[in-house]
Amino acid sequence: MENQNTKIVVNDLKVVLGRKTILENINFDVKDGEFLSILGPSGCGKTTILRVLIGLLNPTGGTVIKDGVDITKAAPSKRGMGIVFQNYALFENMTVLKNVEYALRLDKNRKAQSREIAMEMLKAVGLEAHAKKKPSRLSGGQQQRVAIARTLALNPDVILFDEPMSALDVDTRMILRDELKALQKRFGTTMIYITHDQEEAFAMSDRIMVMDNGVIHQIDTPENIIKNPANDYVRRFVVHNLQLKIDSLSRFSTVCVKGDESAQ
Ligand SMILES: Nc1ncnc2c1ncn2[C@@H]1O[C@H](COP(=O)(O)OP(=O)(O)OP(=O)(O)O)[C@@H](O)[C@H]1O
Ligand SMILES: [Mg+2]
Repeated sequence: MENQNTKIVVNDLKVVLGRKTILENINFDVKDGEFLSILGPSGCGKTTILRVLIGLLNPTGGTVIKDGVDITKAAPSKRGMGIVFQNYALFENMTVLKNVEYALRLDKNRKAQSREIAMEMLKAVGLEAHAKKKPSRLSGGQQQRVAIARTLALNPDVILFDEPMSALDVDTRMILRDELKALQKRFGTTMIYITHDQEEAFAMSDRIMVMDNGVIHQIDTPENIIKNPANDYVRRFVVHNLQLKIDSLSRFSTVCVKGDESAQ
């Protein structure tokens, strides 16, 4: 990561809503082409960070710099960022193709090629055969692929994901993980990815940001977080939870092995 350019720098971000401080002292950067996960319990401020990054929420203090330019007050459409939500947020009355085309048609520079680009993006997520269907006829995983294609179609250099897999079953999540990493490689997109799932964060990320209660505890590579958790919180929330999963899996595999032995 060291040789990569810095894509985003967040300086001293603070968000106060009503009388409540939601985020404080939030400082981090994201490298060009990096996959950064934001990991933390419910209510800790993950979505609030994304809302500030994409321009849906004006922060109380601090700045967001992208490619060296202060975008803290820029309109969402001028930021070159896309977002993918947990609930897909597709238009039910439009076909899959029309969903992907929709925003392109609003852009006068891309309107003429909108169909071509939309088909290309549907191909990239393996859904060209479903172009004419309504979203409700697709599985959850397929609908999320449509949402990803729709975001990619606008050619953002940064995509924000807010728990995009949490409504999907385990098998679909595993497949989508690989697909997402492949898309990132193909398009060179910087990805910031919110998840509750430690294992998902460790499997996918170049670096992980561990948050709690509006502050960042650690931002580091998965390896360093395991080897050197910054404090007790990180040790408990991330390392301990992962260890529990590994322990329960290894217990399960012992049972299987024993079962096999007794069958012989
Ligand atoms: N519009 C708002 N007004 C007041 N408080 C808010 C508002 N939006 C969010 N909050 C509060 O800000 C805190 C952080 O919310 P946020 O949605 O960023 O959490 P999160 O980490 O994304 O949680 P989850 O994992 O459940 O999605 C929460 O305590 C929430 O109640
Ligand atoms: Mg959230």
